Amino acid sequence: MKILVTGGAGYIGSHTCVQLLEHGMDVVVIDNLANSSEESLKRVQEISGRPLEFHKIDLLERAWLEALFRDHQFDAVIHFAGLKAVGESVQIPLSYYRNNISGTINLCETMANHNVKTIVFSSSATVYGEPEQVPITEEFPTAAYNPYGRTKLFIEEILKDLYNSDNAWNIVLLRYFNPVGAHKSGKIGEDPKGLPNNLMPFISQVAVGKLKELSVFGNDYSTPDGTGVRDYIHVVDLAIGHVKSLDKLLGKTGVHTYNLGTGRGYSVLEMIKAFEKVSGQRINFNIVDRRPGDIAECFADSTKALKELDWKTERDIDEMCADTWRWQSQNPDGYQ
Ligand code: NAD
Ligand code: UD1
Repeated sequence: MKILVTGGAGYIGSHTCVQLLEHGMDVVVIDNLANSSEESLKRVQEISGRPLEFHKIDLLERAWLEALFRDHQFDAVIHFAGLKAVGESVQIPLSYYRNNISGTINLCETMANHNVKTIVFSSSATVYGEPEQVPITEEFPTAAYNPYGRTKLFIEEILKDLYNSDNAWNIVLLRYFNPVGAHKSGKIGEDPKGLPNNLMPFISQVAVGKLKELSVFGNDYSTPDGTGVRDYIHVVDLAIGHVKSLDKLLGKTGVHTYNLGTGRGYSVLEMIKAFEKVSGQRINFNIVDRRPGDIAECFADSTKALKELDWKTERDIDEMCADTWRWQSQNPDGYQ
């Protein structure tokens, strides 16, 4: 089976490539390396002991996509490629809409031309906006509060329209909660460019001494300790969710939507404590104002993925922290 992975050099894509290769699948990666480096793919091949094919292609370059699809008969596409920084998306919304939405349209048009009609799309819990209650099921109403979130929501809608226009499509929308952690080997992990936006890479860079202290965004939320609660999911569990989606859904048609989360929320202070415990490092932090746009609490009901994909998470919070720490301490400057 041959799988095209867009954005495969990135954080979640590289971990998914390892799982696909270990599952015996042939993998072709395209990535424009806007937020990643080819080194991650070298390490993916070291870990799995199997080769993959890489092409530096931008999804906006339609002609290159066409050429790629002429050369390969893909069974499915896993579509990770996209820009993902919420704050940046507010500053440069048109770049986000062009890259994420136009990129996806180019991809789908090329797929249709070559009769490849199975796509697994990286969606996000951000499409639930501010949920009225937790845990969140797939039926909850959707909303978006920033351009990044809107690209996810619009792409979901575009893919649903595509299916409605042609019932031969097989569309899997995976709504990720908060991916953290790294591969056990310590060879691949999250390598944010510049100052991290997300909690876990920030904590690990404080732990390794690259950053002085963490700002905790608010301790006056209506949560047990007042800090924000999220559903952190180990990136390897998330990667396995993609393989299970292909295992269960390849050959079917329809639009299939799944939450991928653990079903358990942890607060910022609990994350700090867990990280300190496994790393033995002290995490200096300071309570500051809330970050605009943040919600109090968010965690998944992933029962549907368990029932239909036979998928559930197996890695707990200690493992998420230990694996993040191994990656960060062995690669203090990421892939550089
Ligand atoms: P990432 O930035 O590490 O990976 C995305 C990859 O896509 C990068 O390697 C980047 O170079 C590539 N890319 C971007 N635009 C491209 C284009 N036009 N053509 C070709 N390649 C392009 O991000 P990630 O954390 O691995 O996220 C993967 C996907 O999952 C993204 O779509 C993201 O929005 C989504 N997602 C991520 C999270 C998260 O917290 N990490 C949560 C929910 C959803
Ligand atoms: C972020 C994205 C969201 C995306 C989600 C999943 C933003 C605003 N939102 O959400 O679109 O779908 O990741 O990857 O970026 N925190 C701190 N200090 C920090 C960083 C974070 O206290 O330096 C807190 C936040 O307030 C939050 C928690 O840690 O309570 C997690 O934050 P983060 O990792 O950024 O994820 P989300 O806010 O869930």
